[in-house]
Amino acid sequence: MTRVVVRPSNRPLTGSVPVPSDKSIGHRAFILASFARSTCTIRGFSYGEDNVATMRAFSSMGVGVEDDGSGTVVVHGRGLAQLSAPSSPVDCGNSGTTMRLVAGVLAAQTFRSRMVGDESLSRRPMGRIARPLRARGASIEGAVHPTRKEEITAPLDIGPLAPSTQLTGLEYRIPVASAQVKSALLLSGLFASGPTVVYEPLLSRDHTERMLSALGVPIRAAGTLVHLDPPSGPDTIQDFDVDLPGDLSAAAFLLCAAQIVEGSVVTTRRTGLNPTRAGIIDVIRGFQGTIAAEPQGDVLGEPFGLTTARFSELRATSVGGELSTRSIDEIPIASALSARARGTTVFTDVGELRVKESDRIARIVAVLRAFGVEAEESPEGFRVEGRPEGRLRAAQVDGDGDHRIAMTACVLGLVADGETVVEGADAIATSFPRFVGTLRALGADVEVVG
Ligand code: S3P
Repeated sequence: MTRVVVRPSNRPLTGSVPVPSDKSIGHRAFILASFARSTCTIRGFSYGEDNVATMRAFSSMGVGVEDDGSGTVVVHGRGLAQLSAPSSPVDCGNSGTTMRLVAGVLAAQTFRSRMVGDESLSRRPMGRIARPLRARGASIEGAVHPTRKEEITAPLDIGPLAPSTQLTGLEYRIPVASAQVKSALLLSGLFASGPTVVYEPLLSRDHTERMLSALGVPIRAAGTLVHLDPPSGPDTIQDFDVDLPGDLSAAAFLLCAAQIVEGSVVTTRRTGLNPTRAGIIDVIRGFQGTIAAEPQGDVLGEPFGLTTARFSELRATSVGGELSTRSIDEIPIASALSARARGTTVFTDVGELRVKESDRIARIVAVLRAFGVEAEESPEGFRVEGRPEGRLRAAQVDGDGDHRIAMTACVLGLVADGETVVEGADAIATSFPRFVGTLRALGADVEVVG
């Protein structure tokens, strides 16, 4: 079991660093490359375990992959024809995005498949994809959820569709905004006989819509409604060559560390700035933090740019509504800002955090308390009493298999009064394998032990 030891930072964090490529875009690029006419090249592929799980899933279904081991992956697309049945269960590891998106694809195939995941993924709710996929003719069964008897979870048993049948069109209102559910439905819609129309209560990240549209698939979005027409033939998805933008969700840990370590100025390069994902920039500004985002270009409909954050005297704020949706993965690290802000910060409308890689509301509150910060949870949120003066109390915490909780604890350790130990830090590799090395490059005193 890997642990990370963090010592208080006695000097500013400074520098300009790359971040791993965007995990959400990486999954989608790999999936759509598998359905392209012939050959696609994905550059800057992150070897985060979640993205690798998606790559392995498709190579186990007959998609040819040449990986040079340094981030350039050539994918031999098979068009929108049937994939080959995998010879063993599709292992999604810790990746909810792999399980939910690939389930949408498998639901449309004429072979039977099984999807499995690690302990954390085997507690996450899968009824949210199973219900609408069944409504368009798919067969999906799951294990009974360990604590909620009416819910299902992994392993999932999917299909097969009867030979020469197709999924039907679907019109579906998603009860809770979710890009994974929306994307599972859109991807299954690539194989359906009629249109897929999805409404969300709030707009979740729209990477799938942007990429499908950039690759020639007939899709239109208006507000929180998306309409996808079935592609006209197996050759619809154009070949592409993409250099993936960096992951703002990974960059957020560095940009927020800069906010709280005195004197810091940190830049992350080529960082994704999709507005449906960039809520953390508004959250940092809400804390009166200093952050600049300078657009540099876009790829496959995804804007990216330079982001620079500076140490700031933070003030408490409130985070709720659509801002919570646009920063849902960054709430753990935003809690580190609330720990250093003057006043009481209130996070609301973040109930979805309870069904992420861990119960993140409970874990955030436990981690903050371990650092001597007062925090209180409610069913859909939590509140934090900031401690802007002095240092926090050094802590020994467990990442509990959740990469974002482990990285948040590492960042809090930079402003503690002694050595902080983060146990169970292996999970960091799911999204940011070089996290510790990147923090060191910025000047932090942090190391991996064991
Ligand atoms: C993701 C969607 C989000 C996010 C997750 C990645 C995606 O979940 O939390 O880390 O790539 O589609 P939702 O499905 O709840 O939006």
